[in-house]
Amino acid sequence: MSRMIVPHTTSARTVRKAVVPAAGLGTRFLPATKATPKEMLPVVDKPAIQYVVEEAAAAGLDDVLMVTGRHKRAIEDHFDNAFELEQALAAKGDAVRLDAVRDPARLASIHHIRQGEPLGLGHAVLCARRHVGDQPFAVLLGDDLIDPRETLLSRMLDVRDQYAGSVIALMEVPPEQIHLYGCAAVEATGEDDVVRVTGLVEKPSHEDAPSSYAVIGRYILDPAVFDTLERTPPGRGGEIQLTDALQELATGGTVHGVVFDGLRYDTGDKADYLRTVVRLACDRDDLGPEFTAWLKEFVAGLDTGTSSERRRLAA
Ligand code: UTP
Repeated sequence: MSRMIVPHTTSARTVRKAVVPAAGLGTRFLPATKATPKEMLPVVDKPAIQYVVEEAAAAGLDDVLMVTGRHKRAIEDHFDNAFELEQALAAKGDAVRLDAVRDPARLASIHHIRQGEPLGLGHAVLCARRHVGDQPFAVLLGDDLIDPRETLLSRMLDVRDQYAGSVIALMEVPPEQIHLYGCAAVEATGEDDVVRVTGLVEKPSHEDAPSSYAVIGRYILDPAVFDTLERTPPGRGGEIQLTDALQELATGGTVHGVVFDGLRYDTGDKADYLRTVVRLACDRDDLGPEFTAWLKEFVAGLDTGTSSERRRLAA
């Protein structure tokens, strides 16, 4: 049976479209990302980007635009029909795998656009302008996974409906990690999980960071962001930074942040990728019990140096 994605809400939303930037070079994950986009790296048995599209669909976003780069083909093929494969599985009567193969193309109306050169996340978002038009839209980074049990995106859509403007997702990180993220200066709103964003800075040093709130890869953007991006010059790393455009919008008082304290995984980072695979594998009904039993034995063996694998390799 196909696993249906059930939207978290049935109320009519003003936001219907999601943009998934997936055109970055993925240098942190080389050489795996030499010929494969990092968004296509498998997390257990699905590419990372499929979880992201499932999250969009679960929040009721039924139109997804992928912004792809030189590895366009693998992403496009994954969200398309695979006629020969489907025929072979149908002939074998393998309904479970047939559904798994068909699922990605059924999640939403999926579109693709190419970012000719990886000029930065801000530029990738600007590539979506014509498709998005004059409506607010969501941006979900294709390598940034929010645990499927979380409802962050739905909450952000509610906050957009309440406050208008743009909404970003924020997570508190230890001071020594803030230089890896965009960082937000914030003011309280009276709601525990919502802040007003008064400023943004891309990858600040610990000393220059205005707070410990890191921007993570979920955004609900007002279409005003496009005009701002058009005039945003290359910033940090010579890239057109979404953070710089949001900084301009924030000074106009139109950006809010939803503070998220749930499970989030950066699959573009090797160590976090490994944690993601282990964690999601442990949670799976089909794999979890056996894998968890093995993992416990493996970890106990690491502590004592007596795992069966080690004994065998040492022999
Ligand atoms: P990252 O900051 O992770 O950069 O991009 P990157 O180049 O992809 O990866 P590393 O740091 O070299 O390993 C954040 C998101 O923005 C997209 C990426 O695909 C990722 O989803 N992106 C980045 C673009 O679509 N285009 C760009 O020009 C840059």
